[in-house]
Amino acid sequence: MQNFDYYNPTQIVFGQQRLNELDNLVPKDAKVLVLFGGGSVKRFGTLDKIKSSLGEREVLEFCGIEANPKFETLMQAVVLVQKENIDFLLAVGGGSVMDGTKFIALAANETSKYNELLFHGFEAVPVEKALPLGCIVTLPATGSEMNTFGVITYNEQKYPFNSPLVFPKFSVLDPDLTLTLPKEQIANGVADAFIHVIEQYLTQPQNAKIQDRFAEGILKTLIEDGAITYKDNNDIAARKNFMWSATSALNGLIGVGVMQDWSTHMIGHEMTAMFGIAHGRTLAIILPSLLRERKDHKREKLIQFAERVWDITDGTDDEKITKAIDKTESFFNSLDIITKLSHYDIDDNAIETLISNMEKMGLTQLSETGDLTLDIVRKILVAAK
Ligand code: NZQ
Ligand code: ZN
Repeated sequence: MQNFDYYNPTQIVFGQQRLNELDNLVPKDAKVLVLFGGGSVKRFGTLDKIKSSLGEREVLEFCGIEANPKFETLMQAVVLVQKENIDFLLAVGGGSVMDGTKFIALAANETSKYNELLFHGFEAVPVEKALPLGCIVTLPATGSEMNTFGVITYNEQKYPFNSPLVFPKFSVLDPDLTLTLPKEQIANGVADAFIHVIEQYLTQPQNAKIQDRFAEGILKTLIEDGAITYKDNNDIAARKNFMWSATSALNGLIGVGVMQDWSTHMIGHEMTAMFGIAHGRTLAIILPSLLRERKDHKREKLIQFAERVWDITDGTDDEKITKAIDKTESFFNSLDIITKLSHYDIDDNAIETLISNMEKMGLTQLSETGDLTLDIVRKILVAAK
């Protein structure tokens, strides 16, 4: 295990019927901007509850942060924040709204070069101040509610950013707020959270027992309770476990002191940018093919994954690996995610364009060891046809 620092200041407010506690979470004298997406928050009554819980505070609204939030949309909110002297941002939604709000928080104190906030990859954005923000999660998936990351669409490409200044002050995780989700969004969320764990866990053996066992626990929980939540809207106990799994998958804890491989995400982001396929779904399409291509490279961890996550104890090591990857793909398929590119009309030409876009973005040396080249990306995608 490598040396590490771990710090996570986000207060988690977990459970049913907790929106009324907003009054204690948001500073009393704050002028608040509530930010949300295309309308689900209004349609299902969440906005009214939030406003009533915020009491006498001055509250403004910003509606219309789209999935895979666009720089231009967020800049409209930045103008509003600056004009109205907003001093607290409240994101209500899924990853897109939370990420968008983080960007707005960072941009709020800037006066120019807003787009340059997006050009630092996973290095911390070089700004000194950000507006404080809180989150109300309506879609368990990204873990944005308890981390420092965001992903913004700019010039039709997806740009990740990172800053410790945008740790949410608090995040409310009320499973009841997710009951209105369309089924496919639950499936996307389960796949996204599952693959967040995989990207931090399925690398090389590093004798990081706590991280490995937490990771395996989250994967097993997603397999059990993610699947139940997908099938049964009434099982609130399973939904609670799913929700906490998604947050735990990307709040930094399982990734401390270990190698990480974000290849599936980097390929997936390009697929979303080009074809508009939802984030979690792109990952589920790519991962099985990536694992098959990299099965020698990731051999030790794949055996561990087979034995401890899928309980595969019979057969040779090679058989265990094959079975584990097949079971992983079947798990995604059981959530009605089709894991073949042809289903999404992605042909050889589209694969070539995707690869050349990745090259333009500098995504040429992926994986935990930096040896996953674009030629290997091509093999992975061709095998997923
Ligand atoms: O806009 P509305 O009407 O609210 O509809 C949304 C949206 O269309 C709907 N939705 C959300 N909660 C709902 C609901 N519909 C009914 N009932 C509810 N309770 O769901 C749709 C998708 O929402 P979105 O926020 O886009 O989904 P998700 O949470 O999957 O976020 C995806 C974004 O997060 C980024 C992705 O790249 C993508 O842009 N990621 C952020 C990460 C992070 N910050 O750490 C890591 C991830 O790997 C990911 O890259
Ligand atoms: Zn993700």
